[in-house]
Amino acid sequence: MTGAAGPRPDAFEARYRAHPDPWDTLTAPYEVAKRRDALEACGPGPFARACELGAGVGALTAGLAPRCAQLLALDAAPTAVAAAQARLAPLPHAHARVASIPADLPPGPFDLVVASEVLYYLDADALEAVAAWAARVLTPGGRLVAVHWTGTADDLRTDAATVAATLRARPDLRDTGAGDVLDGYRLDVLERRP
Ligand SMILES: C[S@@+](CC[C@H](N)C(=O)[O-])C[C@H]1O[C@@H](n2cnc3c(N)ncnc32)[C@H](O)[C@@H]1O
Repeated sequence: MTGAAGPRPDAFEARYRAHPDPWDTLTAPYEVAKRRDALEACGPGPFARACELGAGVGALTAGLAPRCAQLLALDAAPTAVAAAQARLAPLPHAHARVASIPADLPPGPFDLVVASEVLYYLDADALEAVAAWAARVLTPGGRLVAVHWTGTADDLRTDAATVAATLRARPDLRDTGAGDVLDGYRLDVLERRP
């Protein structure tokens, strides 16, 4: 399942076909608490244009949507995207679409980029590409919020600490200090330097 650039997109699609919410993101107490913390880290907005990477079934997306004038949620798995689209249907300013990261990253600009439990599936080159993309598409002062489980699993290409270090190594991104390492996961909040 794990290739040079991490699990193939069809591996995620297979998981969603086998279970509509493979990581229990909608119901697990850990996921609900983490989502609350991630939303708090994003801030109240309002955001003009936000982008969420690896949005899955759109649980975090739905929480973000009221703070955004436009919100784009991306995921490689079509079944997950269909579920996100259904969840976002009452919110015409929020869209979910199939996109593989980093190949299909959109042009921006964005004043908020959120990545929850996705960047550790990327290899070092892909992770660098995402960090460079975020620095390019974020408006000055725009925020990048990354949330990652700190455990390990066979299909992860890297870990939460390496993701954080890669993002923080960008000279054009500033660590706001608003992140935290919590019970089982870490939150990193960076800002595009002016
Ligand atoms: C563990 S789930 C996290 C879902 C959601 N972000 C959350 O925190 O609840 C990982 C998601 O990332 C997506 N994903 C993994 N690698 C991806 C890639 N390279 N491009 C786009 N989506 C990807 C998977 O399809 C899956 O929906």
